[in-house]
Amino acid sequence: MINRQELIQQTFAFVKNIHQRDFSGHDFEHIKRVWRNCQLILTEEKNAERFIVEMALLLHDVDDYKLGDNTEQGYTYLKQCNLDESIIQRILTIIDSIGFSKTGYNPQFSDIETKIVYDADKLDAMGAFGIARAFAYGGAKSRPLFIADRLPPQDLDLEAYVANAKSGDNHTVIHFFEKLLRLPDLMQTRVGKALAQTRKATMINFLRALFAEQELHDWQRLLNNMAN
Ligand code: ADP
Ligand code: NI
Repeated sequence: MINRQELIQQTFAFVKNIHQRDFSGHDFEHIKRVWRNCQLILTEEKNAERFIVEMALLLHDVDDYKLGDNTEQGYTYLKQCNLDESIIQRILTIIDSIGFSKTGYNPQFSDIETKIVYDADKLDAMGAFGIARAFAYGGAKSRPLFIADRLPPQDLDLEAYVANAKSGDNHTVIHFFEKLLRLPDLMQTRVGKALAQTRKATMINFLRALFAEQELHDWQRLLNNMAN
């Protein structure tokens, strides 16, 4: 039987193969960055079960609807790893609970492993990489970058978010207001919260420049409301 260290390496190779054809911001480099974020958080969260965190993060996007049809690649893979069913279920439960369409604006997790994978994934949606990923995702979905006279909805709840996400003609700048700028308030770990603040400032600076270039006062006002 292979040991856990070898299993992590084998899983790296498995997910690399799955993510290599993605151009929506969910390529293998996303997984590598989430891995790094997880390691940063783990240095402080010493009680977490590292193996569970690492397996969940490596597999967290293999069945994501954003990469194509929802399949059971993760489960099928874990089944043939000779892991206890209880471990498999813990890993799959983490993967299943961290998606934004599940947690919305009020994530509630009871275990530290889920909190770590959640923060590590969301951190890669923020900051400079987050900006790049958002526009890459929009492009992959044939969405406009920005439509100046289409302002974000004022009151957001999860239902409105999901409806918006499905509406194909939405522009990408809205995504910053409905989700990305709100993520720092949803972080679950101390390291996650600290890193998220810096990344939020990067997004605010970017959007400030974007709106200043065209003197878009409505958008500047909306951004100021989010900047506090
Ligand atoms: P989540 O569970 O939060 O969806 P993922 O890592 O699977 O986490 O995907 C989040 C990434 O998908 C974000 O970084 C963002 O770039 C991209 N994304 C998702 N929906 C949109 C959208 N409507 N517009 C732009 N980017 C989006
Ligand atoms: Ni992800």
